[in-house]
Amino acid sequence: MLQCLILELEMVFSWLNLLAKFGFSDITGIDYSPSAIQLSGSIIEKEGLSNIKLKVEDFLNLSTKLSGFHVCIDKGTFDAISLNPDGAAEKRKQYVKSLSRVLDVKGFFLITSCNWTKEELLDEFSEGYMERFTAQKQNVEA
Ligand SMILES: C[S@@+](CC[C@H](N)C(=O)[O-])C[C@H]1O[C@@H](n2cnc3c(N)ncnc32)[C@H](O)[C@@H]1O
Repeated sequence: MLQCLILELEMVFSWLNLLAKFGFSDITGIDYSPSAIQLSGSIIEKEGLSNIKLKVEDFLNLSTKLSGFHVCIDKGTFDAISLNPDGAAEKRKQYVKSLSRVLDVKGFFLITSCNWTKEELLDEFSEGYMERFTAQKQNVEA
């Protein structure tokens, strides 16, 4: 079963057709705002989209066992976290750690940002993925 995690609830409906075409049947949307989840839930119910699970989750402090996702999509959440006036650099690092935790080893991460250039994003995320690559390599060699 192909799994997708969406940190991007407003566009979930435009992604849905595309994801369905590629065979995704297990789609989870998260936001730490209960009202965002509530609004999305009411739209999902109205549209009869039963294959999307919604969860109130802080991506920086995941409470449940979210892992093994083949795709993770973000539009705006990393930006929002980056703009936090309280410890943004540390929070960005935690985001990369959380992403590494939820995404399958061969998973695909799609991010849309209006605050960061492609080069800045590659730089920001390379550390987490180099760590993961190194960890994988160590497992293979062990
Ligand atoms: C800029 S909005 C983007 C909303 C929508 N994706 C869009 O493009 O219009 C950022 C969203 O990220 C959510 N968010 C911010 N920090 C979060 C966190 N730590 N965990 C989960 N969601 C978070 C906010 O509640 C908000 O819904």
